[in-house]
Amino acid sequence: MTIEYMRRELQQRLKRNRFAHSVGVAYTAVKLAERFGVDEEKAYIAGLLHDCAREYENDEMLDQAIRWGIEINYVEREMPILLHPYIGAKMIRPIYGVRDAEIEQAIWRHTVGAIDMTPLDKIIYIADMIEPNRTYPGVEELRNLAETAELDEIMLTALSESIIFVVRKNSLVHPKTISARNFLLLQK
Ligand SMILES: [Fe+2]
Ligand SMILES: [Fe+2]
Repeated sequence: MTIEYMRRELQQRLKRNRFAHSVGVAYTAVKLAERFGVDEEKAYIAGLLHDCAREYENDEMLDQAIRWGIEINYVEREMPILLHPYIGAKMIRPIYGVRDAEIEQAIWRHTVGAIDMTPLDKIIYIADMIEPNRTYPGVEELRNLAETAELDEIMLTALSESIIFVVRKNSLVHPKTISARNFLLLQK
């Protein structure tokens, strides 16, 4: 399947803003891939498709997760939106013709992170937070850091900022995000 095909298919399935966000993540992921010596085509495809399952409403998100045999933990049951990365990772093969375990994994891990992330996983996680359409307090600092710091330092800051954001909202923190951050700290 060509990239043009993927773009057209995705555009039909996502709302306009979400499609623009996806193109922004693809573009940002390629820039980071260039900087960190990661496969740029994989970065583009993973960035483009990372939110391909993001439009489902809560009930449908839970149904889809069950349909794909995805295990649902207690945080995800409370916030079904957190299931979109796993469903998206499952959908890229049948719908977009992408058969690539690294791309699947990067999509799978893009929302809450994981321990032992690959450079591609980290790039997609970071690109999702800093692509040009993102506007939130602190995004400029993270963008600047992404242009100068090493990959693990950017990743650590991104994880810390995500945890702080979720805590400030009084929301549940996904245990994988805590593990991802602890893992990086212990690796130093
Ligand atoms: Fe997402
Ligand atoms: Fe996203």
